[in-house]
Amino acid sequence: MSSSGSCPQFGRPVTLSGLGAHVPARVVTNDDLAKSLDTSDAWIRQRTGIRERRVAEPGTSSSDLGIIAAREALADAGLQPSSIDLVITATISPDRLMPATAARIAHECGCGHAGAYDVSAGCSGFVYALAMASGVVAAGVCERVLVVGAEAISRIIDWEDRSTAVLFGDGAGAVVVSPGTESGKGSQARILGFDLGGDGSGQEFLSIPAGGSRMPASCSTVEAHQHYMKMNGNEVFKFATRVISQSAGRVLERCGREVSDIDLFVPHQANLRIIDTAVRKLGIAPEKVYTNLQQYGNTSCASIPLCLHGARAEGRLRDGGLVLLMGFGAGLSWGACLVEWGPVGGQDMTEKRQ
Ligand code: ACO
Repeated sequence: MSSSGSCPQFGRPVTLSGLGAHVPARVVTNDDLAKSLDTSDAWIRQRTGIRERRVAEPGTSSSDLGIIAAREALADAGLQPSSIDLVITATISPDRLMPATAARIAHECGCGHAGAYDVSAGCSGFVYALAMASGVVAAGVCERVLVVGAEAISRIIDWEDRSTAVLFGDGAGAVVVSPGTESGKGSQARILGFDLGGDGSGQEFLSIPAGGSRMPASCSTVEAHQHYMKMNGNEVFKFATRVISQSAGRVLERCGREVSDIDLFVPHQANLRIIDTAVRKLGIAPEKVYTNLQQYGNTSCASIPLCLHGARAEGRLRDGGLVLLMGFGAGLSWGACLVEWGPVGGQDMTEKRQ
């Protein structure tokens, strides 16, 4: 059911060399939602941990948010956009079914003729995209890859459905993936390995039923709100609390590390109760867990890079510290990644060598 391996075993070292993030300015609090939905601040806080979220202004798409985050990541890495070979965007709220959201991000960021495609793996999308980027860099297929998690998720939410409307928020985060050097060990944020997996038997628990080839758009699909996200929250909850500890255990074993080695756990930000349960199962100390869902809600594919950006700004990423990234979501899908942290930002190592 689960596959993949540790990138460095198969090729050259891979590093994170730049970080960027962006959230829309408009804050929507739980009390704001309670004005139009049968819900309350107390229910949302108690059941999810969320206090508020950001919602993009009308006319703003996922790529608009992703472009800002991507530009910051490129500047952070000290890279010219033209040096990017590939742009991968992870999103569950793409600008359009076709072309890829990544195509617009690559173009607007000035990435010249870089390849560009989207990853659709629910809220695990960012970790999946990072794995794809790491693989092509490790193998020497690409030199530098821009990975963007971008969500204007408010566009695919049914604002009349209280069971989903209170959970999500808009935002974007981006990282640059570059080759590292053997001699650079300890002075680079090195990607150590991945565990990716899925269970398609749970595909109906989290989906947007219409708009694809299985249920093409029609007047009746629009009337029935079939173009909005539908979720069986209890099933997703049970799935998430089960797979997080299993996947984390596998990636740690592959990389020869222990739970006690983890300095910072950065889980997908779906629900504080899911995170707390997983953390208890794993045996990670609560102070080693990073969360931002209180301010941003579930930003889907943007949640992990937004967390990394926030954690760095708050000084929570220690050079040499082990960071565990954990995505889970629609598919059903999951993805774990281990990173040995190091300085991120400034001049890209490979750029220096040229
Ligand atoms: N406000 C007030 N009451 C509500 C709300 C709300 N917003 N939503 C549901 N309720 C009610 C229900 O109707 C139900 O009422 P009833 O007892 O009268 O029938 C009651 O609250 C309990 O409902 P549950 O669904 O059992 O509530 P639960 O404690 O399970 O919390 C939640 C629901 C928050 C959705 C939880 O199940 C969850 O977080 N699931 C995982 C969701 C998730 O992770 N989704 C994202 C995955 S990532 C991706 O790929 C997109």
